[in-house]
Amino acid sequence: MNFIVRRAQFSDAAALPAIERSAAELFRDDPSLAWLADAQVPDAEHHQRAIETDDVWVAQSLDGALMGFVSAIEIDNELHIQELSVSQYFQGRGAGRKLLLAAIECARGQKLQGLTLTTFRDVPWNEAFYQRMGFETLGAAQLSPRLKAVLNNELANGLPSERRCAMRFNLRRAPSDPHPAPAQTP
Ligand SMILES: CC(C)(COP(=O)(O)OP(=O)(O)OC[C@H]1O[C@@H](n2cnc3c(N)ncnc32)[C@H](O)[C@@H]1OP(=O)(O)O)[C@@H](O)C(=O)NCCC(=O)NCCS
Repeated sequence: MNFIVRRAQFSDAAALPAIERSAAELFRDDPSLAWLADAQVPDAEHHQRAIETDDVWVAQSLDGALMGFVSAIEIDNELHIQELSVSQYFQGRGAGRKLLLAAIECARGQKLQGLTLTTFRDVPWNEAFYQRMGFETLGAAQLSPRLKAVLNNELANGLPSERRCAMRFNLRRAPSDPHPAPAQTP
C-alpha cells in the first residue's frame, strides 16, 4: 500500500485518539488485556501539545487518510517512544514499521544515544517486532531509574508487570559490533 510518513501537524491531533482506540482493538481477544480496548486514551489537546513540543509522526495514505502515529519524547539524551498506534483497518501494511524507522532515523540524526520504550513481552506485535527492528530487551539490572519509574507507573495503572518489559535501541554501538540492523521497508 502506498503511504507516506511525515511529521504530524497541529491539524492532525483531532484524528489521533480514534486511531489509538482502533489500534487497541487488537487486545480484545486476550482476556486479561481486553480492558485495554476500552481504556481511555489521551485526547486531542494532549496530542496538540505533543505535536508542539515533542516528536510525532503520522502515516498517511495517498488518498489522505491518517493510518497511524508514533509519539516520542526526548529525555536524558534518548528518544522514548510513548505511543505507536496504527488503526485496525490499516494494520499489517508496513505503517508501524515505517513510523518506528522515522523515530529511529530522527534520533540518529540528532546524535542521541538511543531509543527506549516499554511494551508487552508476549504479544506478537510488541516485543518480538521491536527486537526485529533492533531493540534489545533490558534485564532488571539494565533498567535506568527513568525506565523503572515508567514500568512502576504502568503497574499502578493496572498493566500486568510480569508481561511488561523495557527495550532499548542503541545508537552508540561501534560499527563492528554484531547487531541486528532494522530491516528497511522496501
Ligand atoms: C504495533 C502496531 C503499531 C504495528 O503496526 P502495523 O502497521 O500493523 O505494523 P506493520 O504492518 O509495519 O508490521 C510490523 C510487524 O508487526 C507484525 N505484526 C503486525 N500485526 C501483527 C499481528 N496482528 N500479529 C502478529 N504480528 C503482527 C508484522 O508481521 C510485522 O513484522 P515484520 O515487519 O518484522 O515482519 C499495531 O499492531 C498496533 O497499533 N497495535 C496496537 C497498539 C500497540 O500494541 N502499540 C505498540 C505499543 S508498545
